[in-house]
Amino acid sequence: MIADILPVRYSQTELVELMIPAYANFGGKIHGGILLSIMDKVAYACASKHAGAYCVTVTVDNVEFLSPVEVGDLVRFAASVNYVGKTSLVVGIKVTAENIKTGEQRHTNTSYFTMVAKDETGKPTLVPRLLLETEDEIRRFLEAMKRKELKKEYLRLFHDAKTELNIADEIQKLSQERCVIALRNW
Ligand SMILES: CC(C)(COP(=O)(O)OP(=O)(O)OC[C@H]1O[C@@H](n2cnc3c(N)ncnc32)[C@H](O)[C@@H]1OP(=O)(O)O)[C@@H](O)C(=O)NCCC(=O)NCCS
Repeated sequence: MIADILPVRYSQTELVELMIPAYANFGGKIHGGILLSIMDKVAYACASKHAGAYCVTVTVDNVEFLSPVEVGDLVRFAASVNYVGKTSLVVGIKVTAENIKTGEQRHTNTSYFTMVAKDETGKPTLVPRLLLETEDEIRRFLEAMKRKELKKEYLRLFHDAKTELNIADEIQKLSQERCVIALRNW
């Protein structure tokens, strides 16, 4: 660890990338996977800078591409450490696409990458505490804490949805769905 405490601004990272035709899908828009890969790179740079150690991605939350990104757009990825635990960090990444010809800017998504710092032996290692210097930084830290709590509850319900499912009780719900049951003997 390089310091006991570091300000958010120390590790804030920004990457601007031109969306080239090789990034496009069959519909002519940019592949979501390309954007995710760049976001992961920026999250890594931001988290590792704060941690002073290599980091791995553990989870990615809130990946919703609400507005398509076009070939030729200039896309800005702005990353900031929102929250730190003991060995984990949450990096928020705001993605903005700009149409070069018109200058119009669209906020395409904001996603949250949970990263864990690792030591030389591959074990999770302590990260510096976070110095919060603005009201936005305080708000983001509190929001990340809230998301962490909500996610715990969500994962519990998600798990229960599988383990508590009684197919005999639930099967009639399928009559309203766009599926047909035709059981075969295996
Ligand atoms: C994630 C990983 C580091 C957890 O290792 P572990 O030995 O179980 O460590 P711990 O249980 O002590 O958890 C370490 C931290 O990860 C956090 N964590 C673990 N699982 C998590 C999850 N599903 N979601 C969010 N945070 C998680 C813990 O809360 C803890 O944070 P804290 O120290 O700030 O409190 C480990 O499973 C790993 O290395 N996974 C592979 C990650 C990777 O290689 N990613 C690249 C993409 S392939």
